[in-house]
Amino acid sequence: MNSEIKDLKLSKAGLEKIEWADRGMPVVAMIREELKKTKPLKKVKVAACLHVTSETANLMRTLKDAGADVKLCASNPLSTQDDVAASLVKDFGLEVFAVRGINRDGYYRHIRKSLFHSPHITMDDGADLVSLIHQNGSVSEQPRGGTEETTTGVIRLRSLAACGRLKYPIIAINDADTKHLFDNRYGTGQSTIDGILRATNVLLAGKNFVVCGYGWCGRGVASRARGMGAQVIVAEVDAVRALEAVMDGFRVMALKDAAKIGDIFVTVTGDTTVLGQSHFPLMKDGAILANSGHFDVEIDLKALRRLAKSVRPTRPMVEEYSLRNNRRLYVLGQGRLVNLACAEGHPPTVMDMSFANQALSVVYLTRQAGKLPKDVAPVPREIDQRVARLKLKTLGISIDQLSAEQKKYLASWELGT
Ligand code: NAI
Repeated sequence: MNSEIKDLKLSKAGLEKIEWADRGMPVVAMIREELKKTKPLKKVKVAACLHVTSETANLMRTLKDAGADVKLCASNPLSTQDDVAASLVKDFGLEVFAVRGINRDGYYRHIRKSLFHSPHITMDDGADLVSLIHQNGSVSEQPRGGTEETTTGVIRLRSLAACGRLKYPIIAINDADTKHLFDNRYGTGQSTIDGILRATNVLLAGKNFVVCGYGWCGRGVASRARGMGAQVIVAEVDAVRALEAVMDGFRVMALKDAAKIGDIFVTVTGDTTVLGQSHFPLMKDGAILANSGHFDVEIDLKALRRLAKSVRPTRPMVEEYSLRNNRRLYVLGQGRLVNLACAEGHPPTVMDMSFANQALSVVYLTRQAGKLPKDVAPVPREIDQRVARLKLKTLGISIDQLSAEQKKYLASWELGT
């Protein structure tokens, strides 16, 4: 095997983590049992570029049990759980290319290695893998289809499709209701707070907590920070979302104003340079800066470095920037996804739904090979609905069904009173 991981000896702890996550992922487990019997992915080569976490491990073993030949690389240099990577290699026989803290060259070398077998299906989180395939044709044969996990990746791929250059169909997992309504909102909401707390041990109650971006993730972060007693301030650029934040009970203001009063700042926009050189000098001494958006471009660290007299680590995953105005700012996880760099990412319960969509979409793409347009497509509604039904079942919740009369009423335009 050609795997590149930190240390195979870490596998025991990794296996324990994978098994723990599996307990919170009953939908993926049910799908795994089904696919193990039917083997719809027999001889299908898969390259997956995802955060190498215990939840991802359970998705990977599901694909393998379905018959696929899987290679896995990391979608972020700081999100890899080295023990999980070791267990995937040792206990599940997968090829994995992922080492936490790898440099840029190593990161891209790992992505290229995951493509060595010229995959039929690609799985991405942020579109780095697909982007590499499109930039330098690093595969001899065109993949048949792919999936994309996150908002930022879907945006990148839509722009590739819009200029007519997307070479194969991609399913936007992020846009499934059973993904963004739960993973982005409750997963990012909780795990972002978790990352901040693990890195700093700061008390949130009474702090001014600034959330930049009130999308699916931002709503989750804001509501969870409020739940911990913080005074939440939202900064937005979209008028409707800003209004929504106002009516959800948050203070909304421009960042130049929030910069002066914030104790903790979290960016979750998918945008670049959200916190930049005009904001840093305004911030209070001791302000904490974290990012939970996909790329490490939301906090302009280059500008912050230029403004700093000195930079030093103060705790694991916390760097202190001493500015020329003698104020100190603290950046968490090098400005990378704070929930993955400083904590363990989303809890299994939400990844259960995201990854059920992933597994079923890979099977769908395989069955539909050659029939789908080279475009970014939604997760088929039946898959999304099936995932919701299975999740409710595993939670022991049954819901009502429409009666024949109700179905007729809802389908008609003639019936009023
Ligand atoms: P979204 O599109 O629902 O929301 C983004 C919001 O940010 C929008 O309301 C937009 O108007 C706002 N925004 C854009 N530029 C801004 C600026 N300069 N200042 C203030 N607001 C701005 O996207 P979603 O789903 O909330 O995702 C946000 C980011 O989080 C993406 O990069 C996504 O890939 C990432 N993500 C991270 C996860 C994690 O585990 N940390 C999980 C899921 C998504």
